[in-house]
Amino acid sequence: MSMLPLFSASEDAAAFIRRIVREETGVNLGPDKQYLIDTRLQPILRQYGLASHGDLVGKLRNGAARDVLRRAVIEALLTPETSFFRDRHVFSYLENLLLPSVIASRAAERQLRIWSAASSSGQEIYSLAMLLAEKFPQLRGWTVSLLATDVSERILAYARAGCYTRFEAQRGLTEEQRRKYLMERDGDFQVRKDLRQLVDFRILNLTAKWPPLPPMDIILLRNVLIYFNDETRRDIFAQAACALRRDGVLILGASETIVRSEFGFRPRLGTAPGVYERTDG
Ligand SMILES: C[S@@+](CC[C@H](N)C(=O)[O-])C[C@H]1O[C@@H](n2cnc3c(N)ncnc32)[C@H](O)[C@@H]1O
Repeated sequence: MSMLPLFSASEDAAAFIRRIVREETGVNLGPDKQYLIDTRLQPILRQYGLASHGDLVGKLRNGAARDVLRRAVIEALLTPETSFFRDRHVFSYLENLLLPSVIASRAAERQLRIWSAASSSGQEIYSLAMLLAEKFPQLRGWTVSLLATDVSERILAYARAGCYTRFEAQRGLTEEQRRKYLMERDGDFQVRKDLRQLVDFRILNLTAKWPPLPPMDIILLRNVLIYFNDETRRDIFAQAACALRRDGVLILGASETIVRSEFGFRPRLGTAPGVYERTDG
């Protein structure tokens, strides 16, 4: 006889929970993610005094707090894994090749727009803000727009505050960068206010119709496509092609690729892996 972990979700309850996460965010929680359902929902069960995932599903179907609970369940099951300067080679490419060439091509208009889509807790866009501040002083006087979006309100509130634990602050930042760009506060580390003020944080669900956005020079769409099915990915690429300037660049995560050019993108030759340009660019 196999031992079930305490509070393990029944198959029906898990299927219902998987379905609402997929419907709302496009994220597929495969059978290998059962442990997430079992463990990450425990605090919610405790908070609402529920004895099982089955009771939780009952409340999700007809309880008075259905909408609030639904949101809490979905947010608890997203994976906000990120770090400063994640995948260093991408930031080296941005620093040494991409940003210099984009900046040169925008010299007349003096405007630069970068979007971290699925930004999680903000380390990606703050890394960019640090890179721009440190290596591109020529941008002083330019209009630089840094947009960071995510589907999770909870994670965006964290990103906006820009306040990280010691462990998070150490992941990806050198000691010198941490001292330069983060201020120590009661044992935590907060990104400098002038950098936080550069970023516009907004809710945006990649699997819904995107709101009108100004045309982007660079879109970072990293480490989120892995959670979606092919059809959802295709819809996202179609919207990304419209959101990007004709000569703009789309950057995906290390394990994400676009294999067919009908998605509107082709790999940008002579660059880092995961870097794409519009096929009509
Ligand atoms: C693993 S993190 C990636 C963070 C960052 N881009 C990086 O590469 O370090 C994935 C993020 O995608 C967000 N996400 C999941 N589904 C989403 C959707 N439908 N729309 C927008 N963001 C979504 C999650 O909330 C999570 O913060």
